[in-house]
Amino acid sequence: MGEQYKIIDHRFDVIVVGAGGAGLRATFGMASEGMSVGCITKVFPTRSHTVAAQGGINAALGNVVEDSWRNHFFDTVKGADWLGDQDAIQYMTQQAIPAVIELENAGLPFSRTEEGKIYQRPFGGQYLADHKTIAHRTCAAADRTGHAMLHTLYQECLRHKANFFVEYIALDLLQGPDGEVNGVMAYCMEDGSIHRFTAKAVVLATGGYGRAYLSTTNAHICTGDGQAMAARIGVPLQDMEMVQFHPTGIYPAGCLITEGARGEGGYLTNADGERFMERYAPTAKDLASRDVVSRAETLEILEGRGGGPNKDHCFLHLEHLGADVLAEKLPGISETARIFAGIDVTKEPIPVLPTVHYNMGGIPTNFHGEVINRRDGEDVVVPGLFAIGEVACVSVHGANRLGANSLLDIIVFGRAAALRLKETLPGLKSPETESNAGEAALARFDKMRTASGKRRPAEIRDAMQRTMQNRCAVFRTAETLDLGVKEIREVAAQMPDIGITDHGMVFNTDLVEALELDNLLGVAMATMDSAAAREESRGAHARDDFPERDDEKWMKHSLAWVENQQAGEVRLDYRPVKSQPLNDEVEAVPPMKRVY
Ligand code: FUM
Repeated sequence: MGEQYKIIDHRFDVIVVGAGGAGLRATFGMASEGMSVGCITKVFPTRSHTVAAQGGINAALGNVVEDSWRNHFFDTVKGADWLGDQDAIQYMTQQAIPAVIELENAGLPFSRTEEGKIYQRPFGGQYLADHKTIAHRTCAAADRTGHAMLHTLYQECLRHKANFFVEYIALDLLQGPDGEVNGVMAYCMEDGSIHRFTAKAVVLATGGYGRAYLSTTNAHICTGDGQAMAARIGVPLQDMEMVQFHPTGIYPAGCLITEGARGEGGYLTNADGERFMERYAPTAKDLASRDVVSRAETLEILEGRGGGPNKDHCFLHLEHLGADVLAEKLPGISETARIFAGIDVTKEPIPVLPTVHYNMGGIPTNFHGEVINRRDGEDVVVPGLFAIGEVACVSVHGANRLGANSLLDIIVFGRAAALRLKETLPGLKSPETESNAGEAALARFDKMRTASGKRRPAEIRDAMQRTMQNRCAVFRTAETLDLGVKEIREVAAQMPDIGITDHGMVFNTDLVEALELDNLLGVAMATMDSAAAREESRGAHARDDFPERDDEKWMKHSLAWVENQQAGEVRLDYRPVKSQPLNDEVEAVPPMKRVY
């Protein structure tokens, strides 16, 4: 197969796949320590999906009201509905403070308080030590924090002479004789060339897989590429049933309206003009955790109190905030509402509905970013393989992520992976490039490139997205999930019949979409199967038929091995949640009732 394609070889100390916030933070961290780093990315770095993160990044700086990382720790454990690992949550919430200061020093243009400190706004599910007073913990650059972050990080990468391979899609991981990961095969979309990147370590930072669903805030590039590549070398995917619906996707397009809009004083109503969150979360109201607000909106719609002719959405009011506040604090979403809903936010409410936003599940890692497999009931590190950001499941978000903990996750764990590699790189094996390395990846690629069946990638993708949207939604039952398990296999079984219109190598978007679809189908299957198996309600996983959380049976992480995607073979197993923090600087938070 190799002879058919001319392979261009590259050698680095480390390859990073993905140039969102996690990938860029890891890249510049390693480059600044003198490692040679190659960063492969499907889009220009500053167009990565991090650019869409609006509201901010959490860190208990206490700039507006006094705060402590211990409060942040407590809120994150509770927000995660006790499925998060408390060692990793301590690491993240404690490291948040230096990580944000580091960003400030790198030049991130944060909004400022009157005294010139970093501006911090309230976000959902976050309180001070009394667990009642709302915290101001989310550090913001207006409502364009992700955009500002990407530009800052990319500049740091350039300053440290990192190497970028832009508009390359990674195809598959390469492994050495002992299973160590030592490279990636990639296809350059611009000129159609095939590349073999070898390195002592590979860091996956490819983001989530929101595009498995029909309605999502995710960019078109969020296609589960890293999860799928890891699954193809036998790594399980963890807690995939935990899919977050953001309560304020703009209706009907699905683009994000930041939670920061409610942080600044916005509120939700139903068609009767009622502020319904007062009934569902009497204390936090519109600033309850995302899973709680999304369920409340869904119930309002299901019970006939939705707005519009089809009674299928709710309303987000910002009019009362005034034009000046909206222009200063929420300029981006004011524009989004105008473009996508034709709404002037100073005069009318924005129609909104819950929309797929974030994957809490992903590739299991420890808090250094090292990927962990599980064999015979024991956790084992996969040598040379790291995963950071949304592609990973550390697990700091458990069953529900708190808003603005995602920008934090990518910065803290991007930095952690760089620190770990500084220590461990000398001990990792140097890859021997064999002339046939990557044969299997090329065979898969070639099969897709030459596919001439009768189904277009878009047709199969549409069937997958509808299956996920209808069967694995905000509320789930055994009936919907069992149907989903069956239907997603029927969709995957259509893949041998896929046909692409262009069999060329250069800028072949049909081919790229087919490769992405193949990645999405495996992760969608893992999601559906893990959801069908978990017979309880926890965080984002709300079962009508098992409405309570069941800590005795289910306080454990799901693991799903996609053993044969074509044949629909997925194996499930579980690993215990880590219920103890890293050390005695903070007390463990034992499971309790989760009310807001
Ligand atoms: O609502 C938002 O601004 C999204 C933030 C996040 O998902 O962390």
